[in-house]
Amino acid sequence: MNQFDQIIDRRQTHSVKWDTLEATYHSKGLLPMWVADMDFQAPEAVQTAFQNFLNQGVFGYTITPDSLYDAIISWQKQRHHFDVKKEEILLNSGVVPSIALSVQAYTNPGDAVLIHDPVYPPFAQVVKENHRKVVRSQLYTDDKFVMNFAEMERLIQEENVKLFILCNPHNPGGRVWSKEELQHIGNLCKKYHVTIVSDEIHQDIVYQPETFTTFQNADPSFKDFSIVLTAATKTFNLAGIKNSMVFIKNSELKQAFEKVQKQNHQNDINTFGIIGTQAAYKGGKEWLDELLEYLKENINYAYNFFQKELPNIKVRKPEATYLMWLDFFCLSSLR
Ligand SMILES: Cc1ncc(COP(=O)(O)O)c(C=O)c1O
Repeated sequence: MNQFDQIIDRRQTHSVKWDTLEATYHSKGLLPMWVADMDFQAPEAVQTAFQNFLNQGVFGYTITPDSLYDAIISWQKQRHHFDVKKEEILLNSGVVPSIALSVQAYTNPGDAVLIHDPVYPPFAQVVKENHRKVVRSQLYTDDKFVMNFAEMERLIQEENVKLFILCNPHNPGGRVWSKEELQHIGNLCKKYHVTIVSDEIHQDIVYQPETFTTFQNADPSFKDFSIVLTAATKTFNLAGIKNSMVFIKNSELKQAFEKVQKQNHQNDINTFGIIGTQAAYKGGKEWLDELLEYLKENINYAYNFFQKELPNIKVRKPEATYLMWLDFFCLSSLR
């Protein structure tokens, strides 16, 4: 049996995905497909690392070992051809918390922050909660999401945008932005002095023949005005361990980020985050390769189902992520 065929009942385990379903959607017997949280067990390497830690039974404060940085550096190099040094890595409890810190570090209250629409909803929430202005640029929705560069440029100028939060690969559209698209955005932001936060949490879930380009690899100058956020948590289904990375090569951007991180006492990370991330990056490669094959089959299955049974609902096969965008617009004519 394929390891991913195992059905694990996660109900009554305080799972956000399963145990908030009824209260949120006011109905019984639903299947939760609303959050990027898989029902697969983590790689064996991660489970073993946790077991070894549990066996000692002592859960005191921990320091962050160099071996974690080594694992991150080598994953980025091998998987994404991205060179990052230890001193360019900051650790934090999550990508969303890092977006919040970026908003605080790189903008002032009232400043405009650009995001795409649609995009992962916490982007807008974080901006609003920090009393900044959300500016949205629509993604065209023909047969796949495409950026409207002319609109982005107009909004950057009109609203005096200070920060752009990019989602690459894109949630919910499943696009992997091409190197050319990234260059276009980068050049635009460079021209108007807009800082970029690139959320790359879905970077490892990309389906061949698509390839992922990390933002700072799109052009050597982009590291001067951008930061990259990622984590092992989406890739290896470890969202509960609360651990993520921030890659900052520009020293001014790094100092500004570290300052708010310290002000908020957010520069300490969870021990399970250290252990899980390190074990996943060191020993999870084969698991991930098998997962990608498995997810590809799931996508084909769902796609074929809709084509056959519900052809009016437009379905796009994602280039990346384990999310699928279903267009129910056809139903509006039935109202
Ligand atoms: C684009 C994107 N960013 C961030 C997150 C959440 O990251 P974290 O749990 O590290 O805050 C998600 C979760 O689905 C996501 O899709």
